Amino acid sequence: MGDSYQAFHRRSIEDREAFWAEQARRIDWHKPFGPVLDYRRPPFAKWFVGGETNLCHNALDRHLAERGEQPALIYLSTETGQQGSYTYRQLHAEVNRCAAVMQGLGVKKGDRVLVYMPMIAEAVFAILACARLGAIHSVVFGGFASHSLAARIDDARPKLMVTSDAGMRGGKVIPYKHLVDEAIRLSATPPEKVLICNRGLDPGMSWVAGRDLDYAPLREAHLNAQVPVAWLESSEPSYILYTSGTTGKPKGVQRDTGGHAVALAASMEYIFCCDPGDTMFCTSDIGWAVGHSYIIYGPLLRGMTTVMYEGLPIQPDPGIWWRIVEQHRPKVMFSSPTAVRVLKKQDPAYLKQYDVGSLRYLFLAGEPLDEPTARWISQELGVEVIDNYWQTETGWPILAATPGIEKLPRKFGSPSFPVYGYDMRLLHEQTGEPVGANERGVVTIVPPLPPGCMTTVWGDDERFVQTYFSGFRQQVYSTFDWATRDADGYYFILGRTDDVINVAGHRLGTREIEEAISTHPAVAEAAVVGTRDPVKGQAVTAFVVLKDATQTQTEAGAAAMEKAVMATVDEQLGAIARPAQVHFITLLPKTRSGKVLRRSLQALAERRDPGDLTTLDDPTALEQVRAAVAPPRKK
Ligand code: PRX
Repeated sequence: MGDSYQAFHRRSIEDREAFWAEQARRIDWHKPFGPVLDYRRPPFAKWFVGGETNLCHNALDRHLAERGEQPALIYLSTETGQQGSYTYRQLHAEVNRCAAVMQGLGVKKGDRVLVYMPMIAEAVFAILACARLGAIHSVVFGGFASHSLAARIDDARPKLMVTSDAGMRGGKVIPYKHLVDEAIRLSATPPEKVLICNRGLDPGMSWVAGRDLDYAPLREAHLNAQVPVAWLESSEPSYILYTSGTTGKPKGVQRDTGGHAVALAASMEYIFCCDPGDTMFCTSDIGWAVGHSYIIYGPLLRGMTTVMYEGLPIQPDPGIWWRIVEQHRPKVMFSSPTAVRVLKKQDPAYLKQYDVGSLRYLFLAGEPLDEPTARWISQELGVEVIDNYWQTETGWPILAATPGIEKLPRKFGSPSFPVYGYDMRLLHEQTGEPVGANERGVVTIVPPLPPGCMTTVWGDDERFVQTYFSGFRQQVYSTFDWATRDADGYYFILGRTDDVINVAGHRLGTREIEEAISTHPAVAEAAVVGTRDPVKGQAVTAFVVLKDATQTQTEAGAAAMEKAVMATVDEQLGAIARPAQVHFITLLPKTRSGKVLRRSLQALAERRDPGDLTTLDDPTALEQVRAAVAPPRKK
């Protein structure tokens, strides 16, 4: 390429429209766009105005002539032992069948389809079928339980839900359809139909007559279906993906169509260094932003082969990933620091048993990557590890090394530099002025946000502006992350500025968990904080005030209540949000105006100095917290 990264980045900002117009050539446009950017209504950015395109066409149809017989999707499950491979032609056929089934159920352009599925190929068919029809998919991570699902149903108001009888995790069957039934019961705006991909894992699954439909016979009835793609104007929404923030109500991150396709296609070359025909193995889940972008859309838009894996990294043994690499020969892998830390605790001999020579890069994202973990995996695999920082909101990396443009030295602990397209500023929390080298600031992006980033909060433009663009005097997008930048320009992410916690790379809102705990009839109040965890980065720690404190006076009483609190969270939100620790106290530390002092709670739970306590209302609350988190005395 011969371009210095600095110049490349500068051009992406200073000559923004020309830069992105060039990138837009990576995809097919049914109708060419006019202006590259419409930014008449800041901070709302519309990219590739008037251009018409379709994500499914660009992910599949476009590749048929040249690579119809190349594998597009390789699917394997160590949970069920199933595996399969779909060429571009076969995947195209499956997506057409699925689109025809959906069309038969009345799904049209602009309708929402909620996908609540395990990591099976049919989930990819359903997602791409939505894209084909111009329907807006909203995938909900299978680890979320009925209450979370119901909240998302009511916000997205889907015409159709697509689900499975069950998923599997660590050999255990996890019923999905059962949770869907419960969520629909709780929902104010239930979908008309539920399409079920029955894996035969849950013999007890019940069917609701007239509402629930079995996918297999419907697919059979549409084996030769050819569903024309719906051409969408570039800014029309392609999907909604819910994520957590400060309030208890999850936000529907809305993504456009054209900008999304262009941004992901470009990232595959510049960041991931992948060519058409290469293979990528991303260990995320289709329910997360990483799965949307780098299991499904990114690799397929680039004409690559994507590997989708249902199973744990340590089952049947901790060599499973490397066995997959030996067998399917990916050039790049994408995973999370937590997963690597889990593997680091296993016998390293597993890694040595396999030929991982195809791998060139391992990308890790979602949470801070500590130096020992990065160093260990890099040495063991003999590949470059690329820490990249981004958010559900952006859909693709904000900070990353971009080896496809220029190979620059990397520093452990740093996701390197701002990616092209992002005009970043580190701002002082109070003054809003840019901070100097090694000074802590809030990571912000000067709008317009580049293509591929969220265009609004689904159904709530005002919330988009209020949440993300109103924290500073000047209108900038706030990531809600702290960072420093060293004298060489390398960024270091320090953690969130808000009440979001990050457990194993999963983003959870403390308010959501508190609200879930408070639904238990015995609970008066709860406060949740994230506390340091050596493997998962953070763990959920809950402080709970009961209506009747005598309930936890005995050890047995406390143990029973702890179980009940955990079960309530499991039931409402899902096991991923389950507190690792529950402490019972009779008073939460609050300010005189009634705000819970979460930072002090967190500090005490981590046995650190609780910081400034001048606003604390009742000091006895702190003493209780101290006593609650103290390590148990040896008997
Ligand atoms: O706090 C940052 C952290 O994860 C948040 C975004 O989470 P999510 O929306 O689930 O998107 C994940 C997409 C990769 C960020 O606000 N985070 C993400 N990547 C990193 C990170 N923290 C440190 N280093 C990273 N590389």
